Amino acid sequence: MQKITFDFNNMLDHSIGGLHGVTPSDMQELSGRIKDAHEHLTGLMASPVARKTLSLEWVELPLQGEKMIDEVRSLAKEIAAKFDNVVSLGIGGSYLGLKAAQDALCAPYYNEFKALRKGRPRIYFEGNNLDPETLRALLKNLDPKKTFVIVISKSGETTETKAALMVIEAWLKKHVGAKFGRRILAITDPTSGSLRKKVDQEQAKDTLSFRSLPLLKGVGGRFSELNIGLLHLALAGVDIARIFEGALAMRERCLSPDLAGNPAYMYAALHTILYRKKGKSIAIVMPFSEALKSTADWYVQLLAESLGKKYARKIEIANDGTEAWRADASKVVNVGRTPVACRGTNDLHSIQQNNIEGENNKAVTFIRVKKFARDLKIPGGKDILSGRSYSGLLELAQEATEWALARESRPSCTITLPEISPYYWGGLLFFFEMATAFEGELLGVNAFDQPGVEGYKHYMYFKLGKPGLPEATIKEIKDNPLIKDQRYIL
Ligand code: PA5
Repeated sequence: MQKITFDFNNMLDHSIGGLHGVTPSDMQELSGRIKDAHEHLTGLMASPVARKTLSLEWVELPLQGEKMIDEVRSLAKEIAAKFDNVVSLGIGGSYLGLKAAQDALCAPYYNEFKALRKGRPRIYFEGNNLDPETLRALLKNLDPKKTFVIVISKSGETTETKAALMVIEAWLKKHVGAKFGRRILAITDPTSGSLRKKVDQEQAKDTLSFRSLPLLKGVGGRFSELNIGLLHLALAGVDIARIFEGALAMRERCLSPDLAGNPAYMYAALHTILYRKKGKSIAIVMPFSEALKSTADWYVQLLAESLGKKYARKIEIANDGTEAWRADASKVVNVGRTPVACRGTNDLHSIQQNNIEGENNKAVTFIRVKKFARDLKIPGGKDILSGRSYSGLLELAQEATEWALARESRPSCTITLPEISPYYWGGLLFFFEMATAFEGELLGVNAFDQPGVEGYKHYMYFKLGKPGLPEATIKEIKDNPLIKDQRYIL
């Protein structure tokens, strides 16, 4: 079996020089922290209690058994037999992994062509924005009698998802009548949140209404694709067991203490050096594959929410040895690389100009695919393109981009997938999750919370009159209104 490879030649001084590239002494300097981070992280991952309380349970997701896969499959089969369309509602970690999976593992134009769907329902994503046009257009054009809705929200409180559900509920009620709830399935926290409350109320009236699948404890939103995304994968006909196998193979590599054999640790360590010592604060993620663009979008969220932190992590150890993590208010760090997703070759005619000649503050991660499932040959006899394959040109374009960056002393690395398949996609996901968790350790931040997202939520809740907001939050918003001086608006 071929492996996913991580090529970091062009991050090193031997390729791009010591000013911008990582030197052996940079690595030496970090080696103690790498060892400590490995011991700390794997120690916690081995403890069921720590995994639950510190949100590390995602590391166990690929170990879910056949029984669970069978249950999800039979539910998907039941839905697919009755409905032509599925609308999946969710945002952030309750959306990006699903979209990434669909784009990577279903045929291009899956929704458009019946032959490509092989009898499966079309799958649309909504509730990931408050743009009034998209949901409106979708509902105007979907047949409500042929539509099933999956609503995903871990907290059950998220405004975007909640608003979309309310609109869809009214639409279904109007068109299919009182039993509309039988066309809705919720994936949410098993005990808390207003979506859970709604599920319980609807279920009390009719057990076939608002059926639900639970979220596992200790799995944060952006690390939850292999939990909340399973029904979606089954609906799209993706082989879940192969995803797990690929993730497990990667897990084995990524738990190794040997840096030279651990791609996730190496990726995290090199990026930490490039960020902290060489000023590479922008992370460009550039798959050379249309199908993997949404996976880059998923990674953007993973990196941004996990590592973009104001405060350092404070570890508190209780008498029984268990850890609790707090934000250390006395240590403002404001860290985190800024991720930007783009795609080759499309963005070679866009952001690449800045990558090559703009500020040298970026590290590029290429994602390459060795073998495409289907290729395309260019016809004609005399042109330099004649007889060439698309995949060959794509490969050449990636190599050329890597070369051009190296010539300008710009660091890049290349992750190569032997092919895009459930096995390798599962591996890629796990690789990025593990690398992000490890980078969090090296940076000394909590990679599993997202307190910064709360700011806008609180402001919205305040303006919407949500009851129960903390007094301090209300005071902060009241005392610090947005300044809109008309002199500065032209
Ligand atoms: O990673 C996270 O936890 C977040 O991005 C959430 O997934 C996102 O905010 C959506 O939250 P919820 O699933 O509670 O609606």
